[in-house]
Amino acid sequence: MDQKNFPLLSLPFSLLLLLQCTRSLSQEPAAAPSGPTNITRILEKGGQFTTFIHLLQVTQLGDQIDTQLNNSNQGLTVFAPTDNAFSSLKPGTLNTITNQDKVALVQFHVLPNFLALSQFQTVSNPLRTQAGDTGNGEFPLNVTTSGNQVNISTGVVDAILGNTVYTDNQLAVYQVDKVLLPLSIFGPPSPAPAPVAGGTEKKKSAGSPSAAGTDSPADSSGAIGDALHGAVAFGAAFFGIFYL
Ligand SMILES: *[C@@H]1O[C@H](CO)[C@@H](O)[C@H](O)[C@H]1NC(C)=O
Ligand SMILES: *[C@@H]1O[C@H](CO)[C@@H](O)[C@H](O)[C@H]1NC(C)=O
Ligand SMILES: *[C@@H]1O[C@H](CO)[C@@H](O)[C@H](O)[C@H]1NC(C)=O
Ligand SMILES: *[C@@H]1O[C@H](CO)[C@@H](O)[C@H](O)[C@H]1NC(C)=O
Repeated sequence: MDQKNFPLLSLPFSLLLLLQCTRSLSQEPAAAPSGPTNITRILEKGGQFTTFIHLLQVTQLGDQIDTQLNNSNQGLTVFAPTDNAFSSLKPGTLNTITNQDKVALVQFHVLPNFLALSQFQTVSNPLRTQAGDTGNGEFPLNVTTSGNQVNISTGVVDAILGNTVYTDNQLAVYQVDKVLLPLSIFGPPSPAPAPVAGGTEKKKSAGSPSAAGTDSPADSSGAIGDALHGAVAFGAAFFGIFYL
């Protein structure tokens, strides 16, 4: 009936149809999400990426990823550290970096192109990530493979590529067992190249000596005490993430 409107509608519609068909052919049935790709929803389905989801939210990089996927034909690859990966970080790791570094840390887990699992066998090092100014290679990752195992090295940590959480030829999400800590943030301090104006005072509050080494009397049970310390430190790290 609305012959004039029909051609206008039909192109995007058939593209969408095509996309849905390709997806349902290559994925498990009923996996095709409705609407545009939503990295948060994908990770939520994975069930063990709570901390990474929080980081994507507080840095607003989740939205950015969705937008970028919508606007690019290069696709993206995301390395998603599990909650276990975050909880095995040294306590305070995320607390002690600036918000800017937090953003870079998350961007470091994103490659500006789609990489199928098989492509890791042939990529050339170092890989460029989304962190830093594009193209300056400030935040590189190296990949090594041995058989089907893929290792990702940052110079600070070696992570092992785990399950494919999601792939659709545009976006690939792979589980990693470690948080990828960039060398330029977490590496050994490089000899200061030039004096920078502005307070670079060490924030380390020389620490009350009593809190450092000696046992507090409350720590009657070592195991519980340690678990508590861990939990408190982790909670503090979480707080740090939330209140950027
Ligand atoms: C993506 O999914 C999350 C969680 O399911 C939801 O809160 C958010 O609104 C979604 N974003 C968009 C743009 O639909
Ligand atoms: C994706 O692109 C479409 C068409 O350009 C636009 O209407 C939609 O808002 C975009 N979605 C996101 C999440 O950017
Ligand atoms: C990958 O990392 C593991 C653990 O760090 C190491 O044992 C293994 O040799 C590495 N494999 C490759 C191919 O680099
Ligand atoms: C990564 O690979 C490049 C090229 O092979 C090498 O120069 C660099 O030292 C490697 N970096 C790390 C952290 O392994």
